[in-house]
Amino acid sequence: MILVLGFILVFFGSALSQTTVSVSSTASHPIPTTLWGQMFESGDGGLYAELLQNRAFQQVDAGTSAALKAWYPVNGSLLTVITETEPVSSALPNALNMTIASGTTGPVGFGNSGYFGIKFTAGNTYNASFYYRFPESSDFIGEVDVSIQNSDGDVLASAPVLVSGAQTSWKQVFILLTPGTTPDTTDNVFVVTTDGAAASGLTVNFAMFSLFPPTFNNRSNGMRNDIAETLQAMKPSFFRFPGGNNLVYYQGSNTATRWVWNATLGPLVDRPGRLGDWGYINTDGLGLLEYLLWCEDLEMEPIMAVWAGYGLGGQSVAEDNLEPYIQSAIDQARLRLTLIYFVIGDPATNDYAARRAELGHPEPFNLTYVEIGNEVRPCVCVLYGYRWNLYVTALQSEFPDLHFIATTYAFNPILDPTPTEYDLHVYQSSTWMSENSFYYDVFQRNGTKYFEGEYATTTNDQGSTLQYSTVEAATADAVFMTGLERNSDIVFAASYAPLLQHPNLVVFDAGAVYPSVSYYVQQLFSLYRGDEYIPSTLPTSNGNVFWSVVRKTSVTPNELIIKANPLQVINRNVNTTDVTFELPFNVSDTATAMVLTGEKTSANLPSDPDLVLPRTSSISTGSIFDYSAPGFSVNVLVLDIE
Ligand SMILES: *[C@@H]1O[C@H](CO)[C@@H](O)[C@H](O)[C@H]1NC(C)=O
Ligand SMILES: *[C@@H]1O[C@H](CO)[C@@H](O)[C@H](O)[C@H]1NC(C)=O
Ligand SMILES: *[C@@H]1O[C@H](CO)[C@@H](O)[C@H](O)[C@H]1NC(C)=O
Ligand SMILES: *[C@@H]1O[C@H](CO)[C@@H](O)[C@H](O)[C@H]1NC(C)=O
Ligand SMILES: *[C@@H]1O[C@H](CO)[C@@H](O)[C@H](O)[C@H]1NC(C)=O
Ligand SMILES: *[C@@H]1O[C@H](CO)[C@@H](O)[C@H](O)[C@H]1NC(C)=O
Ligand SMILES: *[C@@H]1O[C@H](CO)[C@@H](O)[C@H](O)[C@H]1NC(C)=O
Ligand SMILES: *[C@@H]1O[C@H](CO)[C@@H](O)[C@H](O)[C@H]1NC(C)=O
Ligand SMILES: *[C@@H]1O[C@H](CO)[C@@H](O)[C@H](O)[C@H]1NC(C)=O
Repeated sequence: MILVLGFILVFFGSALSQTTVSVSSTASHPIPTTLWGQMFESGDGGLYAELLQNRAFQQVDAGTSAALKAWYPVNGSLLTVITETEPVSSALPNALNMTIASGTTGPVGFGNSGYFGIKFTAGNTYNASFYYRFPESSDFIGEVDVSIQNSDGDVLASAPVLVSGAQTSWKQVFILLTPGTTPDTTDNVFVVTTDGAAASGLTVNFAMFSLFPPTFNNRSNGMRNDIAETLQAMKPSFFRFPGGNNLVYYQGSNTATRWVWNATLGPLVDRPGRLGDWGYINTDGLGLLEYLLWCEDLEMEPIMAVWAGYGLGGQSVAEDNLEPYIQSAIDQARLRLTLIYFVIGDPATNDYAARRAELGHPEPFNLTYVEIGNEVRPCVCVLYGYRWNLYVTALQSEFPDLHFIATTYAFNPILDPTPTEYDLHVYQSSTWMSENSFYYDVFQRNGTKYFEGEYATTTNDQGSTLQYSTVEAATADAVFMTGLERNSDIVFAASYAPLLQHPNLVVFDAGAVYPSVSYYVQQLFSLYRGDEYIPSTLPTSNGNVFWSVVRKTSVTPNELIIKANPLQVINRNVNTTDVTFELPFNVSDTATAMVLTGEKTSANLPSDPDLVLPRTSSISTGSIFDYSAPGFSVNVLVLDIE
């Protein structure tokens, strides 16, 4: 048996006093394996490794300068985004039209500056590709130079592509570029040029560009390595996707921009993309299959949301006006079913599952939890109520083993059938979070389980919005998390949010990743989780000290393998605070302590990314022992129980 003890203690705002924590010898409940995970909202320019911004001119208005976002002419070419008369695919109606004026000489073409620049590393191979065609046939034969360059125009790597003016239908070309040196900055570009004199007077159209660095697990169309590795290092056990607001555009009632799962599958040229939840364009290169493969790569349980059938922006429908909506909801429920068939259906009997097999994954994915909608606000409760009924009735009869998660406030409104799970979100101040460690303690134990699908300390104790998570915010997160752990008989999963927006849990730019102080709290809780909760002296809800105790047992019968017991201590006082632990176990004389501490307002900024990191040391322990928690700290103590 592996025993793991976790104590989380939080102190704030009061005089020094000795706190004694007495621990029970028996567990009160198992801790769900899904407890700590991640929620996800968007991937372009972040987790998704594509380096070119606006790579396929998706969802832009042809002819506008905005349509050329991230693209620029090189040496005087004429660039416009056009609505192609012969588009490269029905999903991608736009193309880049480049005209080279008569009398031009020298290299002429265009470049792309990436999302926030582009990082290139010596020795890495970058996969470039694009489609081109000549709208007017000619006898031109020439070279197009594809290169990556630094901001001074120095070529880091380049390769020629032979093109023919007789090529009036679309042709895709692939180029591998391996720079020999690493440029000093991420202020780099992707450039395509041709000889102006040779191509003078010609027009060439281009579509669907792509430039990929090496990816996580070498997956094609995969994830950015450094971000993926940072997320993997949290050892998350579930992944909520496609996020909350990412499901459907939140501002207004616009449903045209929602996540359409079947428009995110297959070749990239078949993905139309969409105007996303935060007002920028999503390529949907990171599509349904990519999300599911990412879950497999990180051994995460997917928590997949399905669209509840309406925009979230202030719609309100009176109960007696519902009739026209009912048939559409029945149709919608049928469509949600197709998504689930795609994920877990049998290819032999279902066309959607057969599509999955065709895309290379005949095995069904693991799927237990399906969330209906996102953050249902009071104004859409009426709509939600009948949709919940129609959806769950239809989906449950086909998939009796699935769990459906409701996204209203808990039991408000009353839904039929009664939800077995709710997803509740909380974005609050440091003070609120640290005072609400007991939030779930008062919930009735009546079979309903809760998913804390989004939570974060977003303001400090003065009410100011935090741009970067500070030690103050991270310790407040930790206090709240002790409550989630204590209540893990009814809280089955929790995910901090946002994961990757800029800036948040994991801050990044084109060149690097900067895990926040809150990231390390999430990581400590996730790495040192138990499988049983051990009751102990209860903290007082408005007190200075908070803790939770967990134990980790192995499955091997009749064998006691006492190994590691993390003891987690959080102190929100500026002063060091002493705690005495009374354990009903014989424990080793020493324990490993992982301590995350810093000044209240300290944050891991890109200019000083490693300011607050967990540090490991050895401490003395025993069945009764004292621990001094530094001011503003999160501590994990790993004890051996003998
Ligand atoms: C910290 O310790 C100092 C010195 O003992 C004491 O005056 C102060 O009140 C303590 N601060 C808090 C917040 O407990
Ligand atoms: C491509 O651009 C050129 C020059 O700006 C223009 O003359 C031509 O009409 C454009 N082609 C299309 C299909 O819009
Ligand atoms: C622009 O033209 C100049 C002069 O011909 C040439 O030296 C330069 O390399 C060209 N720029 C690019 C980015 O190709
Ligand atoms: C990815 O490919 C590179 C280069 O071929 C190789 O060195 C590396 O081991 C591969 N990584 C994985 C996870 O397969
Ligand atoms: C890059 O291209 C090579 C060769 O075509 C291919 O083996 C590899 O999977 C590609 N890598 C990515 C990340 O697309
Ligand atoms: C997605 O599915 C819907 C409903 O079956 C269908 O109308 C639509 O054409 C599909 N879209 C794509 C891109 O396959
Ligand atoms: C699916 O779930 C089963 C049981 O929980 C687990 O053993 C298996 O590893 C999972 N498969 C994947 C691909 O995650
Ligand atoms: C179950 O518990 C919740 C949370 O305390 C409560 O709101 C709800 O009314 C309870 N339901 C029943 C059927 O008792
Ligand atoms: C601790 O060890 C002593 C001496 O071996 C033993 O008598 C006692 O029962 C143990 N206590 C616990 C709680 O295991």
